[in-house]
Amino acid sequence: MRGRFITLEGLEGSGKSTNLAHLKARLEAAGKPVRVTREPGGTPIGEQVRELLLDHRNDGMHPDTELLLMFAARAQHLQQVILPALEAGTWVVSDRFTDASYAYQGGGRGMPEERIAALEAFVQGGLQPDLTLVLDLPVATGLERAGKRSAPDRFEREQAEFFERVRAVYLARARRWPARYRVIDAGRPLPEVMAQLDAVIDEVLHP
Ligand code: TMP
Repeated sequence: MRGRFITLEGLEGSGKSTNLAHLKARLEAAGKPVRVTREPGGTPIGEQVRELLLDHRNDGMHPDTELLLMFAARAQHLQQVILPALEAGTWVVSDRFTDASYAYQGGGRGMPEERIAALEAFVQGGLQPDLTLVLDLPVATGLERAGKRSAPDRFEREQAEFFERVRAVYLARARRWPARYRVIDAGRPLPEVMAQLDAVIDEVLHP
């Protein structure tokens, strides 16, 4: 049987890493083989593209270049990791996927949605995640949490308004396609966030 494809999205500081580890542990405890991966990245080539994308010295990167690099890394990720794993019956959990391109390049950078959709169709064909978890929280809370970590990358250096646009796109997409998305209130204390996540996981494991 084909594996399921689950993606995690959210602003910086939304607790993606912690929740991803929890999700993986719960799925494995239920006997599912799980492959955890991330974007941009997930393959040796993709990780090199990630370095280019995040390096704050690449300030001069044009938004078109940024979008194309995101999808270049994604093409490699899909062909080398995601599709083979799903076909082998492994569940794939990705820390970000194409929703991030709509949110960051579309919302944040103002890139037209049709352009992103064209690349999505080219790279993915009809493939979509089975489930996308959006860890939603107020921008100020996310930035405060993320600010406590290491030196900011090229995206983390953006201003609050950029992240407001990113957040708005995630929420709009979740409203538009409620069957695929679950929005989790990640502004709550961690035990409450995990309880929300557990409810979604139960739904996935016992449809
Ligand atoms: P991370 O910090 O969650 O690892 O993600 C790296 C950054 O890349 C994050 O700021 C969001 C950004 N990003 C995009 O702008 N577009 C995309 O398509 C993806 C996958 C990530």
